[in-house]
Amino acid sequence: MPNIAFVNGRFMALAKARVSVEDRGFQFGDGIYELIRTYGGRLYHFKDHLERLEQSAQAIGLPFVYSTSRWKAVLEKAHAQSGYPDAKVYIQITRGEAPRDHSFPKKVHAGVIVTVRKLAPLRPELREKGASVITVPDLRWGRCDIKTINLLPNVMARQKARSAGAFEAIFVRDGLVMEGAGTNLFAVIQGRIVTPPKGPAILPGITRDLVIAQAREAGDPLMEKGITLEELLAAGEVFLTGTTTEILPVVKVDEKTIGDGKPGRITRRLYRQFLQTTRP
Ligand code: PDD
Repeated sequence: MPNIAFVNGRFMALAKARVSVEDRGFQFGDGIYELIRTYGGRLYHFKDHLERLEQSAQAIGLPFVYSTSRWKAVLEKAHAQSGYPDAKVYIQITRGEAPRDHSFPKKVHAGVIVTVRKLAPLRPELREKGASVITVPDLRWGRCDIKTINLLPNVMARQKARSAGAFEAIFVRDGLVMEGAGTNLFAVIQGRIVTPPKGPAILPGITRDLVIAQAREAGDPLMEKGITLEELLAAGEVFLTGTTTEILPVVKVDEKTIGDGKPGRITRRLYRQFLQTTRP
């Protein structure tokens, strides 16, 4: 079962896939992306991811190239060729190949790349015992709601976390915790589920939306509001959400133990509910 790529209309083994040195994605990070995962061979919340991709495209003035049905057909064909029941499917759209110049080329031939890779599940121990995270200053730009391929601050932050033996780095901006390098952030504060509000400072996560809807349906008190670092450190529970992370309990922030140091009751229940939605 190989990893598969689709590059500007052609399907191939990922190991054989190439893009031009003149592609603006490589030259400037001028592009956007999405990650969709499959559960048991089905694309999970494909429409939501495609909608967010379209919003990202609009935000950077990039043509959206394919119709929904064409995207679906490409993704399904690439995924079928891989044969993986549980896969990570990345879509990347760049402003294509053009002689290097910061301003947009007169005629844009968008670069379209889809990759399908085997999904390595998180270590069960991490899920059972909970993760530790560190906090880092948020050095990102002012439009973190756009899912751009410019990920250098995220890369640096995640590496800092790994070097510290932590799972994730949480960005802190003006004393408020925002999100992780590749995850959204939730806390349970005085019995209420709290998560930073949507806006230019965070990615509007698809998993975040699902968790909010799930919590509301269960009648859990929930608020979208800013969380200070002090509030996070004093929270009863903390968890991360993301396409591959799903819902992951956090038991340590910057060496400070959260709650009783074990995955919290609300987090565990939300995760159980979430898993139900991934089954056919
Ligand atoms: N990242 N915040 C950031 C900065 C992210 O990069 C991601 C996702 C999320 C969670 O969003 P969602 O629930 O839609 O996956 C939040 C993916 C996993 C990635 O970059 O690979």
